[in-house]
Amino acid sequence: MELNRRTVIAGAASAGLAATAYGAGSASAATGSPGGRPVREHFGTLADGTRVYRWSLENGGTRLKVLSYGGVVQSLEIPDRHGRYANVVAGFDDIADYVAKSPYFGALIGRYGNRIGKGRFTLDGKAYQLSVNDGVNSLHGGAKGFDKHVWDVEPFTRGSDVGLHLHYTSVDGEMGYPGTLRTKVTYTLGRHGEWRVDYEATTDKATVVNLTSHVYWNLAGEGSGTIEDHELSIAAARYTPTDPGLIPTGELARVAGTPFDFRHAKPIGRDIRAGHEQQVQAKGYDHNWALDKGVTAKPEHIATLRDPRSGRTLRIATDQPGLQFYSGNFLDGTLTGTGGRTYRQGDALCLETQHFPDSPNHANFPSTVLRPGRTYRTTTIHTFGA
Ligand code: BGC
Repeated sequence: MELNRRTVIAGAASAGLAATAYGAGSASAATGSPGGRPVREHFGTLADGTRVYRWSLENGGTRLKVLSYGGVVQSLEIPDRHGRYANVVAGFDDIADYVAKSPYFGALIGRYGNRIGKGRFTLDGKAYQLSVNDGVNSLHGGAKGFDKHVWDVEPFTRGSDVGLHLHYTSVDGEMGYPGTLRTKVTYTLGRHGEWRVDYEATTDKATVVNLTSHVYWNLAGEGSGTIEDHELSIAAARYTPTDPGLIPTGELARVAGTPFDFRHAKPIGRDIRAGHEQQVQAKGYDHNWALDKGVTAKPEHIATLRDPRSGRTLRIATDQPGLQFYSGNFLDGTLTGTGGRTYRQGDALCLETQHFPDSPNHANFPSTVLRPGRTYRTTTIHTFGA
């Protein structure tokens, strides 16, 4: 259900379409129109009868489709150097697949991106036990994280921007986390086709929070094969090594002289089989890079991903201190994506801007504590080129 439901265009032109356009002058096509109001269509229904909607928006050459379930980016299309469009994110066609087997495809992650060791932390002298869903650890918010809830979605246009506000309130104690967390995430497509994600949250009790987006990228097109020839650069001289359960040890290790050195762009496949014990343990890259810039007041450029064949480029700017680069290690050929092809290991990758995993248990990591009266606010901007 959306907040602030606007005028439904029920005229003859849109009556026969699955999509419902909102606001005067909206295009009635399900794909949205460049710079026009986002368009809504029914995507599927959950077992409890809740309807899940898909919103389509387009601006500056980028086409985005977002589900009310998990705030999932189900499709993101951008042109290559010849103007040919491809959907560059992994996803499913069917809501049942998202519910039953999604490895967080395109989803919003909360309350805590990545892992918290043994699902335990202490805050202000009080011990908390979180939902444990990854061996003995808590991953991406626990068994029912923000990716598995239906969000209230409110479309907007503002100047040359087009976007969606997504709201979800997590009740006190949900998945073991203290405090009622009121969350608002705004997806904006700007006039140059950039996709901006603004996160906001408030709480009524001291808590920890670390929100992120779990898009799986393949700039050659989802389902087109490996991302090992994509070139990646990350502005980080250090990363956080992990134990076998992928919990940071607390060390901030130097990347120099290791396969983790992405300070200059290199193909992902170049060092992925180097046999570094950290890679063997994670089956590839699945680590948090401690960005050189640290926490910043404004988003700063921290990573570039480029597919040399298509020329498609993704540049990421954030105010967050960390970047989780996950090379799709656990994709195993059992999931079939929107294009009808299966996803195998390394067929897509994630670049999750975040605070460091397990921060609540490491005093030397930037703090993830949010207190009543304060607003958690972070921004990540994805800019596309070809
Ligand atoms: C984590 C991986 C995990 C994946 C789930 C990533 O953010 O770092 O360890 O398997 O999410 O799909």
